[in-house]
Amino acid sequence: MKKSPSLLPMYVVAFALCPLLGGCPVMPPPDGGDDGDGNGGDGDGPAQGFLDADAARGGALYDKWWKVAGVTAAEPTEDHPLWASRPDTQSNTRMGSTTWRCKECHGWDYKGLDGAYGSGSHRTGFAGIFGTTRSASEAFDLIKTDHGYGNAGLSDDDLWDLAKFVLEGQIDTDDLIDASAAFVGNLDNGQTLYDSGIGTGTACTVCHGADGLLAPPGADPDEHDEFVGLIANENPWEFQHKVRFGQPGTAMSASVADGGTTQDVADLGAYAQSLPEAPVDDGNGVDDGNGGDGDNGNGVDDGDGDGDNGAAGDPAAGEAFFVANNCGACHCADAIGGCALDAPSLVGEESNEILDHLTGVMQHPVTVEGVTQQDADDLAAWLASL
Ligand code: HEC
Ligand code: HEC
Ligand code: HEC
Repeated sequence: MKKSPSLLPMYVVAFALCPLLGGCPVMPPPDGGDDGDGNGGDGDGPAQGFLDADAARGGALYDKWWKVAGVTAAEPTEDHPLWASRPDTQSNTRMGSTTWRCKECHGWDYKGLDGAYGSGSHRTGFAGIFGTTRSASEAFDLIKTDHGYGNAGLSDDDLWDLAKFVLEGQIDTDDLIDASAAFVGNLDNGQTLYDSGIGTGTACTVCHGADGLLAPPGADPDEHDEFVGLIANENPWEFQHKVRFGQPGTAMSASVADGGTTQDVADLGAYAQSLPEAPVDDGNGVDDGNGGDGDNGNGVDDGDGDGDNGAAGDPAAGEAFFVANNCGACHCADAIGGCALDAPSLVGEESNEILDHLTGVMQHPVTVEGVTQQDADDLAAWLASL
């Protein structure tokens, strides 16, 4: 994928992607001629490494690089070598791998001390990287050697992706987030994007629920407290970065690679800021039926003590399980299939088949922690009744 035999198409692609990545703020010509910069070893020179690089992947590496697909380096255990020299050692007392995340020193807005991390518990006093005038090979060398990411085990491909992000993936977040931390976007369009996805990306509703309160696939429903509406309001700079570059190590993709624009992110952000920041706890312990909190509390055994045959399930409990776990996002509300990811119809599905898919025995985009044979029997009973 990265080793394109032909230089020209990659070159064209790099420029075609450029506007999607925010209008190419600084785009020094890939420094084809000036080798001898001491970063040797890549044989075909920095221009090739840079041209082959993927700014979208670089943006994910900027977030939490050891989670990104293809990275062989392990999560560090010690502090980053520059951490001890931070101008303000009082405010940000984090330790270990967190200190290796680019964003921890340079910020989600890429502005370091001049941005959101200029105050609060993430303040380090380090400068940002927005508007850097480094060339591609200078950025590569700095990240690899001066910053120690080569020694940490990142490959040259990883480092070129980071350099590509630094030069082409950054945007001025002030263009989409105003001084009161509100996204400057069209809320209606944002809702459309949330419900149907940006470009070729999967709709946010599929994984986060219509209200942003569903624990996405892979997250533990009991632990999950970083809801879409919460991040959008509390940290819109983080929100824009995650929407543009995806969530490292999960199926949440980078909108910059899916054909999204910066305006799409602003519109989406405006809508996301209107979503609830946390589930409403009305104190009565009864499921409100929105399925958004992933814990319905009513999928219980109806007490008939069976479980021995195909007719054992309780269709009502099965339907509740289906709703609470948002199966309809892909399989559609009436389970006929086709609402996302080409999910098939589940009508008439047998309980063992269901259990195997939800426990990960058979390949499936979603697993449900703690799913029981009874849940599967109930669901099968409901699916048989459709
Ligand atoms: C522990 C804090 C820290 C971390 C983590 C960190 N940096 Fe830096 N970065 C700095 C400091 C300090 C400087 C300025 C001094 C220097 O050149 O070392 C800097 C400078 C830079 C510059 C040059 C900016 C300019 O003005 O030209 C770039 C580019 C950069 N960093 C990119 C990255 C990337 C990409 C990552 C993640 C792979 C990263 N940094 C992680 C502290 C950090
Ligand atoms: C294929 C599933 C999937 C899709 C589609 C998806 N996400 Fe995510 N998203 C995730 C996962 C998984 C996480 C990490 C959750 C965790 O571990 O806490 C995540 C994390 C996030 C976070 C960080 C806060 C958090 O929950 O950890 C935000 C904000 C977010 N997603 C917004 C969006 C938006 C907006 C969209 C639509 C453009 C979207 N996501 C689409 C799966 C998805
Ligand atoms: C993110 C989208 C998505 C969600 C959410 C989802 N599924 Fe699926 N499901 C799929 C896709 C895609 C397939 C077909 C591909 C495959 O089998 O790997 C599938 C296949 C299945 C199958 C096998 C059907 C067959 O005929 O092979 C079962 C059973 C199933 N899903 C049950 C469920 C249940 C129950 C839920 C809710 C807990 C659920 N799915 C949620 C996307 C989804």
